[in-house]
Amino acid sequence: MKAVTWQGRRDVRVEEVPDPKIEKPNDAIVRVTSTNICGSDLHLYETLGAFMTPGDVIGHEPIGIVEEVGPEITDLRPGDRVVMPFQICCGHCFMCDIQLYTQCETTQVRDQGNGAALFGYSKLYGAVPGAQAEFLRVPEAQFSHIKVPEGPPDERFVYLSDVLPTAWQAVVYADVPQGGTLAVLGLGPIGDMACRVARQMGVDRVIGVDLVPERLARARARGVETLDWREHGKDLGDTVRELTGGRGPDSVVDAVGMEAHGSPVAKVAHQVTSLMPSALAAPMMKAAGVDRLAALYAAIDMVRRGGTVSLSGVYGGNADPMPMMRMFDKQIQLRMGQANVKRWVDDIMPLLIDDDPLGVDSFATHRLPLAEAPKAYDLFQKKTDGAVKMVLQP
Ligand SMILES: NC(=O)c1ccc[n+]([C@@H]2O[C@H](COP(=O)([O-])OP(=O)(O)OC[C@H]3O[C@@H](n4cnc5c(N)ncnc54)[C@H](O)[C@@H]3O)[C@@H](O)[C@H]2O)c1
Ligand SMILES: [Zn+2]
Ligand SMILES: [Zn+2]
Repeated sequence: MKAVTWQGRRDVRVEEVPDPKIEKPNDAIVRVTSTNICGSDLHLYETLGAFMTPGDVIGHEPIGIVEEVGPEITDLRPGDRVVMPFQICCGHCFMCDIQLYTQCETTQVRDQGNGAALFGYSKLYGAVPGAQAEFLRVPEAQFSHIKVPEGPPDERFVYLSDVLPTAWQAVVYADVPQGGTLAVLGLGPIGDMACRVARQMGVDRVIGVDLVPERLARARARGVETLDWREHGKDLGDTVRELTGGRGPDSVVDAVGMEAHGSPVAKVAHQVTSLMPSALAAPMMKAAGVDRLAALYAAIDMVRRGGTVSLSGVYGGNADPMPMMRMFDKQIQLRMGQANVKRWVDDIMPLLIDDDPLGVDSFATHRLPLAEAPKAYDLFQKKTDGAVKMVLQP
C-alpha cells in the first residue's frame, strides 16, 4: 500500500510499504478514505526527529471503512464506517474507566514513561504505524473506534479523531465562568475550533491571537475578536488586559505549543538538536527544557488572577523554566493534556447531525490526494496558500 513516511527533518515521502495485517485477535484493519495532517505532525516534521526512524508511517486523524476484524472483535464488521481516535485505548482499564483514555494502562508506553500509545507518533508514543496511509491496523479495536453514520461526506466526521474533541476538552478545561471571557492563543485548526466550540457553549466574548492573516480572518468571521501577534506580541498581556477591564480574561487556551513564535533561545536549541544525530539529541531533548514557551508565558501573564489556563498545545521539554512565583501569586489554575477523545464524542455528535453549527463541512482549506502529502506538509508548515487544515485522500 501507499503511505506517508517520515524520512528526516522536513522530509516526508509517499512510499510503498507492506499492507498491515491482523496481528492480534482484537485488531481491525481499516481502509482509510480521508486522513488529515495535524499541527502535532508538524512537531515530528521539524523538531522531534530524534524520536523518529526513517520510514515511520505518520498520521493520526483517519476516517474509513472496516476491511477485516480479528476473532475477538464482535461489534465491528467489514463495511462499518469508523473514525479512529488518535490514541489507542482499551476501554476496560482503570484509566479508561475514568475516561482518561490518553492514559490507558493497557497501551501506556512505559519504556518512555509516557501515556497511551498514539497512531503515527514516534518512539515516544509506541512507534505505532500511522494513518496517512491506504490501510490502518487498529489495535484495541474493540474500543479504539467511533462508529459514524453513512451518508454525509467524510469531512462531517473526520475531525472526531482529534480536532473536535481536542478543542472541546480545551474549552471544558478552561472552565470559563458564566458571562466570562476566553482568550485563545493560536488560531490553527485547534485554536480556531476551540473558538467555535466556546461560542457554541455560550461564551460570548472570545479573543483570538495569531500572526497569520487568513487565520485571524477566519476567526473574525465567526464572531471572535482578534489580535495580530505581529502587532501586539510585545505587549500582548497589556493589550488583552486593556480589553478586559484591566483584569485579564477569566480563561486562556494555549493552542500553540512548543513551536511558538517569539522564543529565540529555544528556537536555536530546536535547530541544533534537529541537526544532531538522534542518539545524542534524544536524551538531550528529554533532559533539557527545549520548548519554545512564548505562548505559555503569554497565557500565564494575561490570565486574570485566579483564572484558568488550559493547554492543548503540545509541550515536550522536561525542565522548562516556569514563572512559579507569578503562577503561585496569581493563583492560576492550570490544566492540560492530550485530548481524551471518546470522553467527548457523545457531547459533540449531536452537533454533527443535520445542521453544521461548528462549520466542519467547510473547515478544511485543502483536499489533496495522499500522493501529494509532501506538498501538503510544506504548505501547512509554511502557512502559505491560505493553508489551515489539510485533508489527504488515499
Ligand atoms: N492536546 C491534544 O490532544 C492536541 C491535539 C491536537 C493538536 N495539539 C497541539 O495543538 C497545537 C495546535 O495545533 P494546530 O493543529 O492548530 O497547529 P498549528 O501549528 O496550525 O497552529 C498553531 C498556531 O499558533 C500560531 N502561533 C505561533 N506562535 C504564536 C504565538 N506566540 N502567539 C499566538 N499564536 C501563535 C501559529 O501561527 C499557528 O496558526 C499544536 O501544539 C498541536 O501539537 C494538541
Ligand atoms: Zn492531530
Ligand atoms: Zn485502557
